[in-house]
Amino acid sequence: MSAPVVRRHDDADVLVGDVASALLERLEAAQARGEVPQVGLTGGSIAEELHRELARRAADSSVDWSRVVFWWGDERFVPRDSPDRNARQAREALLDHVGVDEAHVHEVPASDEVETAEEAAEAYSATMRSEGAGFFEVLMLGIGPDGHCASLFPGHPALEARDAIAVAVHDSPKPPPDRVTLTFEAMERCRAVWFIASGEGKAEAVARALAEDGSVQETPARGVTGDETIWWLDADAASALPD
Ligand code: 6PG
Repeated sequence: MSAPVVRRHDDADVLVGDVASALLERLEAAQARGEVPQVGLTGGSIAEELHRELARRAADSSVDWSRVVFWWGDERFVPRDSPDRNARQAREALLDHVGVDEAHVHEVPASDEVETAEEAAEAYSATMRSEGAGFFEVLMLGIGPDGHCASLFPGHPALEARDAIAVAVHDSPKPPPDRVTLTFEAMERCRAVWFIASGEGKAEAVARALAEDGSVQETPARGVTGDETIWWLDADAASALPD
């Protein structure tokens, strides 16, 4: 595992444009190698901006979106058509505009499809195992002001999950309360993990996540390791980092 790479950008628009360019290039390169790249999407506001930018740029890229496999790093355990669903957000901003193959879009089961978040987590894990989800080409993650990523929150039991791909989260400090999240172990199966953060409100969490010391319990983002980790930051989110 190499040291995290930090990429700073003047503002959120430049940040989103650079992430979109880098992702499209990475998908094109994977497909040029004859691969069907797997991408882990995330929820949140900067992710939505990224999805919209990818949709804007899709026509100018050679990515065959029907040969991209989509997963989510986490999902809210709410009805499938709830506006709180990360998958609904991604479909409206990106997937509905680029001709994906539905067989390659793996949503976490919703609360109107299974009884409990535990069932949803187990079904999602089973799909990931059966689909042979080897390595995510890129897993994208946001970060919360408390240092959470996906739905791995400070001090929550999900941080300790072992031998599990996805687990249920309850009493999430960020509403809605019930969620499903990939575990740290699942996140290790990534060729690249990209954290994307914008805004002053993330500056302290970003600095804690990248500090030499500090605990995973306090800042779960510290627990995410992949072969390559890139922190894509705008100037505000990077403002508490040493120069
Ligand atoms: C979720 C997200 C969550 C999000 C961060 C950042 O389901 O809420 O997966 O981890 O990425 O909270 O969200 P913002 O970009 O909106 O601050």
